[in-house]
Amino acid sequence: MLKPRLEKIKSLISEEFNERHDFSLKNPKHTVGWPLYDENEIFSALDCLLDLRLSQGDNVKKFEKAYKEYLKLPADSSAIAVNSGSSANLVAFASLIDFEKLSMGDEVIVPASTFATVSSILYQLGLVPVYVDSELETWNLDPKAIESAISKKTRAIMVVHNLGIPAQMDEIMEIASKNNLLVIEDCCEAHGSYYRGKQVGSIGDMATLSFFVAHNITTGEGGMIFCKDKTLTNKLRSVREFGRAIDYKDRYHFSPSLGEYDSRYIFETLGYNVRMTDFAAAMGLVQLQKLETLNKTRRANAKILTSIISEYSDFLSTINPSEDTIPGYYGFPIYVNPNGPLNRNDLCKHLEKFNIETRPNMGGCLPDQPGFKDRKHVVSGKLKNSRLIRENAMFIGIHSGLNQANFENFAKALKSIYCKV
Ligand SMILES: Cc1ncc(COP(=O)(O)O)c(C=O)c1O
Repeated sequence: MLKPRLEKIKSLISEEFNERHDFSLKNPKHTVGWPLYDENEIFSALDCLLDLRLSQGDNVKKFEKAYKEYLKLPADSSAIAVNSGSSANLVAFASLIDFEKLSMGDEVIVPASTFATVSSILYQLGLVPVYVDSELETWNLDPKAIESAISKKTRAIMVVHNLGIPAQMDEIMEIASKNNLLVIEDCCEAHGSYYRGKQVGSIGDMATLSFFVAHNITTGEGGMIFCKDKTLTNKLRSVREFGRAIDYKDRYHFSPSLGEYDSRYIFETLGYNVRMTDFAAAMGLVQLQKLETLNKTRRANAKILTSIISEYSDFLSTINPSEDTIPGYYGFPIYVNPNGPLNRNDLCKHLEKFNIETRPNMGGCLPDQPGFKDRKHVVSGKLKNSRLIRENAMFIGIHSGLNQANFENFAKALKSIYCKV
């Protein structure tokens, strides 16, 4: 409930905001992502600022609880908010090492075709990424390729639900259980995606999320970790904030090496400071209520974009998600047939002339990246599909800020090039 004085300015803020972000423009930019918020998120954050609540506080706790409930996780599992999806991955794995669930030198299976901080954090922590190929049909980890990548040192599988399209979790969980491996789901691109009736992020042992500005819902920067093993909860919280002791209720605590000491300054492990701010969480709480509706529009937009490219099916294709999944699309995937008249880069340049932003599938094939290629990792198989995806794949925006003018512009851009062929 807003205070009466704030209620008075709410409509003015709304007017100002709508004037600055007019979606009815005739040829608006077709951006890859768009932060869709309104006066409700602004006021939620403003209320925090007016109360001098800047750092981690009650809204962070509420946001953690709300997201955990949204994922329908068991009551004793934990949700830990952090300042980015990259930090979520870092804290998740650092805590697993700290809790001796993993040791330095252990191997973690990861898709080669994904974003950098899925595997860069593994190098940083002394773990060994084992790069596995993706399926060309979904751009997700290929379960068959996982099986052949398992060695005596393998301890975990990091699954990424690429562009919001769920990976084959039943097969992956079966492989993990047969081989006693942990499963961490990177859901940074997959808010509100469902696999066989379950939310992605609720299936593996742990999961991570990003609330970066281009994602389905946003807090500007932000992330969250989910963990079913409640013994890890305090470790995750501690690593998130300096390594400090988390579970002492009393202000002063007796430590054998420190004597009686202010418990807030007892550091039980090595940590970072990657906390979420309270005003970011205040925005997140409002955003989360909109996620299902926003994703519905993303799926409707996927249908429109699919029908536009279907006219050029000799040259362009997209991913057809399987019937038992409901994708929470992050972007609209397009695969450019390498035997067609235009390569991927030329098509991107052409679309950008029409004000349509494009991106490759993140880092392409990660072990080929300059910062990664000489580090210690294992490449399993030839990664043929990951390199095909790197060369030929791209994605464009699919968010709810797009309108009819954007779709017509996209159709025109494709027509102007393929109808000359
Ligand atoms: C699969 C994946 N993991 C992790 C991240 C990192 O998230 P952030 O940008 O919030 O650090 C991203 C970023 O988009 C991502 O796509």
